[in-house]
Amino acid sequence: MRYATITGWGKAIPPAILSNADLETIMETSDDWISTRTGIKERRIAEVETSDMAALAGRQAIAAAGKSPEDVDLIVVATCSPDTLLPSAAAWAQTKLGATNAAAFDLNAACSGFLYSLIVATNMIKGGTHKCALVIGAEKLHSFVNFRDRTTAVLFGDGAGAVLLEAVEQDEPVGMLSSEMGLEVGTEELLWAPQSGTKSYTDEAVSSERAIQMGGSEVFRRAVTMMADSSARVLEQAGWSSEDVDLMIPHQANVRIIDAATRRLGIDESKVFVNIASYGNTSGATIPIALAEALEEGRLEPGAKVVFAAFGAGLTWAAATFQWGDRVTPIETFDVEFPASDRTGLDLVQANLEYFGRNEAVTRPPEETQ
Ligand code: ACO
Repeated sequence: MRYATITGWGKAIPPAILSNADLETIMETSDDWISTRTGIKERRIAEVETSDMAALAGRQAIAAAGKSPEDVDLIVVATCSPDTLLPSAAAWAQTKLGATNAAAFDLNAACSGFLYSLIVATNMIKGGTHKCALVIGAEKLHSFVNFRDRTTAVLFGDGAGAVLLEAVEQDEPVGMLSSEMGLEVGTEELLWAPQSGTKSYTDEAVSSERAIQMGGSEVFRRAVTMMADSSARVLEQAGWSSEDVDLMIPHQANVRIIDAATRRLGIDESKVFVNIASYGNTSGATIPIALAEALEEGRLEPGAKVVFAAFGAGLTWAAATFQWGDRVTPIETFDVEFPASDRTGLDLVQANLEYFGRNEAVTRPPEETQ
């Protein structure tokens, strides 16, 4: 049988840190509020573009698998914050990687994007059209956050993670055993950037609406159900009980969402990987970054049973069970290096504060606010 298994992994974490204490200096918030409501202590702010991070994480994943960029025949970049709409972040990343033999496209399912991409790439490999896919989650989300809006600005961060997915022929099942992805209709405006696309091209455009807005508590409630229930269904499809799971890697949006979802699912917290304190919500990048760190920390044994679950704008959700292969250490290493800079996280959000400050006085036409 033909399966698709992860043979390489990597991450690119931008060096500039924006801590909760930093946020206290630019908005009315507190480390205590952010820590207790979300579990986040700090996040990273990228000076480079999304595709730069994508290429760095991707290059590390290729090295970990002992491959070269020319071996890759498919690149999928999960992102909702591409460098440009045309071309895709995947196109920029492909050139930066020198992956001359790959087809490349972006997939936008917001925070579920990496799992959507992993499912799509797995099926393309199992279907026989591709054999070596680089699946990347990369986001420069701070470009779509208004640092004058404390209800969203404290949550998000930048970064990238990647896996190399390769075809294997064997009798014993390996890789993704079961999966599902979905989207709840009619929830588009619960979590959105109202004027980030073609809708921004109007006379009434309000630039502050370029930024992410959301109904936080409503998203929270649905996120818990989506992650827990979709995980339960993929566990059942795989024939696994929650006790069988060695490690759950959930999307990192809020530690309270993770706690509530895993309690509902019956997975002990010792088996749940959480790194949100360091990075906040990096949308499509949270799961591959967490996976890379779980491997670095020795949290995965050969043959481990892993569950992934995510939710995001749309509202989308996805979950998958993954039977890990034999190798949990990289074949080769690639040192991820960002361009030298002495700019801090606070320095890097100044342009954002100026941009949204300029548009502060602009309000929506009265009929649209009803
Ligand atoms: N600092 C201090 N106070 C704040 C802040 C802040 N940063 N943000 C909000 N508050 C205030 C509110 O104004 C409110 O004050 P009020 O009671 O005087 O009106 C109070 O804190 C409580 O606000 P709530 O919104 O009820 O707080 P809640 O406990 O629901 O937490 C949060 C808010 C963290 C946003 C939570 O609802 C959440 O995490 N929701 C899910 C959001 C999410 O995961 N989004 C990403 C999805 S992934 C993707 O696709 C991008």
